[in-house]
Amino acid sequence: MKEITLESKIRVCQKDELPDDERNLVELAIEATANSYAPHSHFHVGAALLLANGKIVKGCNQENAVLPAGVCAERSAIFSAGAQYPDQAVTKLAIAARAGDGKLTKMPVSPCGICRQVMVETETRFQHPMCILLYGETGVYVIDGIKELMPLAFTEF
Ligand code: THU
Repeated sequence: MKEITLESKIRVCQKDELPDDERNLVELAIEATANSYAPHSHFHVGAALLLANGKIVKGCNQENAVLPAGVCAERSAIFSAGAQYPDQAVTKLAIAARAGDGKLTKMPVSPCGICRQVMVETETRFQHPMCILLYGETGVYVIDGIKELMPLAFTEF
């Protein structure tokens, strides 16, 4: 039997080491946690994305008593961007989160599987990889495209 090994590359740095546009995006994602509506989980997630035209769109998680009716911060930002700027590629996406104690998480928060699937299709749709910045107090994960987080993704039917 043949074995296939799939590897992911993630770079780690401090927020202050990021280039200006990426640091700005991370700061806007942190800011976006303030608008999160998370009365059920008390986990407040913010996202900020940069479009090819230079516009920035923010998002945050929006929960509901019917739990699957809620949406994550990443999809909130991506769908909002799609609604406002349907022909613009998402070039960078930053994510940050505050736990119930109001503090930013020490470790980066990793996007859920559904958001990863949406990111895959967003990259495919615009034929453009998105740089993903996952903020944690101890460091920022910098990821060069969703393929690093979701290899073998389902892309067509
Ligand atoms: N959540 C996000 O918004 N993004 C993530 O990457 C992980 C989870 C939200 C969904 C839900 O509102 C809360 O965090 C707890 O799962």
